[in-house]
Amino acid sequence: QDGLATKRFGREAVYFDAIASTQNEAHRRAEAGAPEGLVVIADVQTGGRGRLGRSWHSPPETGIWMSLVLRPDVPLPRVPQLTLVAAVSLADTLAACTGLSVGIKWPNDLLAGGRKVCGILTELAAEADRVHYVILGIGLNVNQTEEDFPPELRARAGSLAMAAGRSFSRVALAQRMLEGLEADYDDYLQKGFAPFKRRWEARAVSLGQRVVARTPGGDFVGIARGIDDDGALLLEQANGALRKIYSADLDL
Ligand code: BTN
Repeated sequence: QDGLATKRFGREAVYFDAIASTQNEAHRRAEAGAPEGLVVIADVQTGGRGRLGRSWHSPPETGIWMSLVLRPDVPLPRVPQLTLVAAVSLADTLAACTGLSVGIKWPNDLLAGGRKVCGILTELAAEADRVHYVILGIGLNVNQTEEDFPPELRARAGSLAMAAGRSFSRVALAQRMLEGLEADYDDYLQKGFAPFKRRWEARAVSLGQRVVARTPGGDFVGIARGIDDDGALLLEQANGALRKIYSADLDL
């Protein structure tokens, strides 16, 4: 924690050499009353989880695998905005720390060097219509080489080191990420989503382009035009109508 300039985020931190998933551990701790800002971080995850029920490859000594407990006082329908706030915040921090150009692929994949380097998993626990807590899971590929990824991931996944041609301190990056997240989270709670929506759109890689949204209800083709206040993707279809996409994988 030396060198960490936050008031809350990461002030309380639990570190594991190895764990199934920091996300699951953060859920357990939040249920047991852990305060906002608690960070669970591990060197290696044996059962890392990704979006849409996928697994997340989390090998030792190369990436940052961490989960942050949040207790935002916002109405339930606004919680998806938090994922986009986190994506913008992390993209800005990583760009500043590495000098790389970091883009966001909807909803919250961070790309550098044309590959996904960071994934974000936001999970919510609610009671009736009140937010109980949110776990913000961050998986950042820092120092992996191409060979560190399983063959089936190599075409799409990369690391900051692969994009920049040099390695980075994982501790320093984790600290800068927590500092940026705390400042942006506080800003979001005070000022709302509008500034973040603009920042998100400025970093988006697919706006104005033809994309295929693979949703549980089928594939939709169209031009990505932006996001709405719920964080849904606005897809302009061939007939000119805008369709809102809430959950999908995007093919660029
Ligand atoms: C994605 O599918 O893009 C999201 C990946 C999120 C991975 C992180 S790593 C730390 C935390 N623990 C997990 O099991 N998953 C998240």
